[in-house]
Amino acid sequence: MVETVQPTLALNGTITLPPDKSISHRSVLFASLADETSTIRNYSTAADPESTIQCMRQLGVRIDKEGQNLVVHGVGRNGFSAPDEPLDCGNSGTTMRLLSGIVAGAGIKATLVGDDSLSARTMKRIIDPLREMGASVEAADDEYAPIKISPHDGIHPMRYPLPIASAQLKSCVLLAGLFGTTATQVIEQVPSRDHTERLLGLNSEPYGQGKIISSSISDKIPTQSYTVPGDFSAAAFWMVGAAIHDDSSLKLENVGMNPSRTAALHLLNEMGASIKLSNERMQGPEPVADMVIDSSMLKGINVEPALIPNCIDELPILMVALCFAEGRSTITGAEELRHKETDRLSAMYDILTATGADVDLRPDGMIINGNPDFIPESAEFESHHDHRMAMAAAILSSRSDKPSTILDAECTSISYPQFWTHLQDVSK
Ligand code: S3P
Repeated sequence: MVETVQPTLALNGTITLPPDKSISHRSVLFASLADETSTIRNYSTAADPESTIQCMRQLGVRIDKEGQNLVVHGVGRNGFSAPDEPLDCGNSGTTMRLLSGIVAGAGIKATLVGDDSLSARTMKRIIDPLREMGASVEAADDEYAPIKISPHDGIHPMRYPLPIASAQLKSCVLLAGLFGTTATQVIEQVPSRDHTERLLGLNSEPYGQGKIISSSISDKIPTQSYTVPGDFSAAAFWMVGAAIHDDSSLKLENVGMNPSRTAALHLLNEMGASIKLSNERMQGPEPVADMVIDSSMLKGINVEPALIPNCIDELPILMVALCFAEGRSTITGAEELRHKETDRLSAMYDILTATGADVDLRPDGMIINGNPDFIPESAEFESHHDHRMAMAAAILSSRSDKPSTILDAECTSISYPQFWTHLQDVSK
């Protein structure tokens, strides 16, 4: 599908965000591991979380779905059955990496596969620690899906300093650790999103500048009966959209506000964006709030490496915001962006330069010379089948004075199926 983005003078209205993707995945995975039944409300209808549901069903978990509500009949750690067919993780790195932790921990015979994009993403980061824990894991070129997991003689405990600030890696090791008779300890120096620790109620203690998180067979898996918050990563597109258009005001309700996810909010505040929070509250184990974002005069900033893991998915749309900010901005320490659904550093560089933005690509980031009066040239954008590239290009080109086109635009359904309708609804 090719989507045409019409220029718009302003973005105004209220948006109901898609449910958080990271929490949706975890809610089903953890509810399946629990011994009792969970009722999950506001589960995401996007393609990635749907892949997780299908995989868990193949492992013998009964999941009843009514609209966006799920009833997951947990089978407990020892209740999974070996699937007849490969577990298809689709485009979803979170499904493949977290599910590998569970399947390897449980010692189930299964093969995990993904689409072309996922099959080109390195899984070495999870394969190495899983093997060290005693799991039996094979992969194409020892690095890529299909990942073949076989029964083993038991999970050994491990003390694991995370070599990369990755919540997917952290979660994979902790999930495998749930099957070990003594505790697996993960040492995290640079914080990444903490939904796994929070939703499983894992023991976590300060350790040096960071923390040490433990999991073992003695951790009781809590049921996952809560309402999934709106996705902060989806909210970021509208936060930037409203900020860069004149005469704009967008209201977002029920936005997930987990502090390990909200660095983009603080960065936008530092840039001078007008963002007001209200009704801050807890929704189950996760904080949420309502948000109003108004047109703003933005100034350039430096995005430092320590913050990158807490805004990793928001960096593409932050790059768009920085193009409209007064002065020079730098992003450093973001090499990890090259390992996402596509090489997001290169893809964003191509998108931004296609519109005439003044940017310079670096191995681990970007330098952006912003201009509040920037009018992006219209262009035909490649999405590289990456939902966040398509949405970033859309918000950018909505500030153009001519229509632009986005190829393979249906990929937004990976995290945000209603994105194009919402963009039309608020363009006024
Ligand atoms: C996710 C973690 C992040 C993020 C991804 C979802 C998760 O990846 O980019 O979209 O749900 O754990 P890494 O932790 O590998 O950086």
